[in-house]
Amino acid sequence: MPEYQSLYRKYRSQTFADLVGQDASSRALQGAIISGRVAHAYLFSGSRGTGKTSAARLLAKSLNCTGRARDSAEPCNSCDSCREITAGSALDLIEIDAASNRGIDEIRDLREKVNLAPALGPFKVYIIDEAHMLTEPAFNALLKTLEEPPGHVVFVLCTTDAQKIPLTVIGRCQQFVFRRHSEEQIVSRLSYIASAEKVQVDPDAMRLIARTAQGSMRDAVGLLDQLVPLASGPISLDSARSLLGIADPRLLDGLLDDVLAGRAEQALAELNRVYAEGAELRQVVRGLMEGCRDRLVAALTKHDQATARRLSGVLDALLHLDGEVRRHAEPRFLVEATLARLAVESEATPHPAAAPPTSPPRGEVTAPAASPSRGEVQVVAPVGGWNEVLEKLNRTVRAVYLDAQPEVEGSVLVLWFKYGFHHKKAQEQSAQLIPHVRAWLGDEVKIDFRLRENDAAKSVPRPASPEDDPFVREIVRRFDGRVTRVKEVSE
Ligand SMILES: Nc1ncnc2c1ncn2[C@@H]1O[C@H](COP(=O)(O)OP(=O)(O)OP(=O)(O)O)[C@@H](O)[C@H]1O
Ligand SMILES: [Mg+2]
Ligand SMILES: [Zn+2]
Repeated sequence: MPEYQSLYRKYRSQTFADLVGQDASSRALQGAIISGRVAHAYLFSGSRGTGKTSAARLLAKSLNCTGRARDSAEPCNSCDSCREITAGSALDLIEIDAASNRGIDEIRDLREKVNLAPALGPFKVYIIDEAHMLTEPAFNALLKTLEEPPGHVVFVLCTTDAQKIPLTVIGRCQQFVFRRHSEEQIVSRLSYIASAEKVQVDPDAMRLIARTAQGSMRDAVGLLDQLVPLASGPISLDSARSLLGIADPRLLDGLLDDVLAGRAEQALAELNRVYAEGAELRQVVRGLMEGCRDRLVAALTKHDQATARRLSGVLDALLHLDGEVRRHAEPRFLVEATLARLAVESEATPHPAAAPPTSPPRGEVTAPAASPSRGEVQVVAPVGGWNEVLEKLNRTVRAVYLDAQPEVEGSVLVLWFKYGFHHKKAQEQSAQLIPHVRAWLGDEVKIDFRLRENDAAKSVPRPASPEDDPFVREIVRRFDGRVTRVKEVSE
């Protein structure tokens, strides 16, 4: 019997045409290969499971392929070099996993061997996976090689966290950003795999997998891989749900109703039912978040500020819970406690117009504490425009800013955050926000991301400019360099 090969491996892209999405990176790489203008070092950054390692191997394959047509970048996949690379035995392709022992020995080894000629093809390709995990000495050693790379060597650094790569290294690489896959791209890939594997998958089940994978093609293919051997017949939405531990959204909708209406006891009973049916807690929390977000968007569209505030508070708590559930030893109690608290809070504020009970202190713009409309006055002006900005963002980015409370001070838009996590994410994603804010408040507008006092103590204040960042300063000092270019990173 042939050994079972996971779908994830079996369907790794072996041609550029088979690499889903990533059109800009793919086109640029192919152009460089065809014209023979391949850089000495590349940095493939971006979301996990989106094809960075696959693309790096493809590049290696094309460069050493002996059967490649001159006017195409596609490897032949049948010459010795291609076959060795597919099998993982090629001597001219060296893959270093920086995560395993932080790359110290490998980089030392690399420095010794990098000047040796390639074994078979014209190029020796080094793929450094999880490059952000390299230690400082390893980066320093790598940098020396990057400064004077032998002509036959191509480096590909792959990372999900480009911000952790020293600027001096980034400066020597040509960078490509790999984007998250859309649900459509994932569904279409899964359909292709399912038909090649001759398994029947209900389109709704496929969409559920795509949504669960959150933009990662690897996760999507991995989930399908779990389903195929478990399901005896065609994979239906229900079987996908139960196998993936995802609760029926109708049950979750009822649960959310209970929480928002302040029915704590029913909420707990409902949660237990969902749990007993085999749903995983993380998926439950995620499902609640999705439901909450949909309702929030609906409230914002209707300009129902009071409901929107309440929902935004609940969503906030759920986002926080989502992070905690992963770490906690007793996640079930944690979920119960949070839902009960939210329900009790809802009960305590039955009037939808009432300010949320967790309304934080408002920094310097203090209003008399007894004022019933406390806080409301400050945000009324920007809220309409801010809601429009929110609606223009895509779902994932929007989630980051839902927690923000906007205030306009002259030509500055101040966004207040309750959680350090959101505060950080919001700044990371600001490239997506800025154009919409400019369209609203003009090109001169500046955005000031602020953290509420109670959390502020824990976080380091944001430096005025990237050059003032202590990390950047240290790099500049250590390498006796200077900052020549500041690039906004969106992922
Ligand atoms: N763009 C893509 N097109 C088709 N399949 C993909 C794509 N990206 C990922 N996959 C699937 O996911 C698997 C893993 O992809 P790959 O290792 O290239 O991702 P990665 O971006 O390097 O992930 P990580 O950041 O976790 O290292 C592939 O074998 C393939 O099955
Ligand atoms: Mg990888
Ligand atoms: Zn070939």
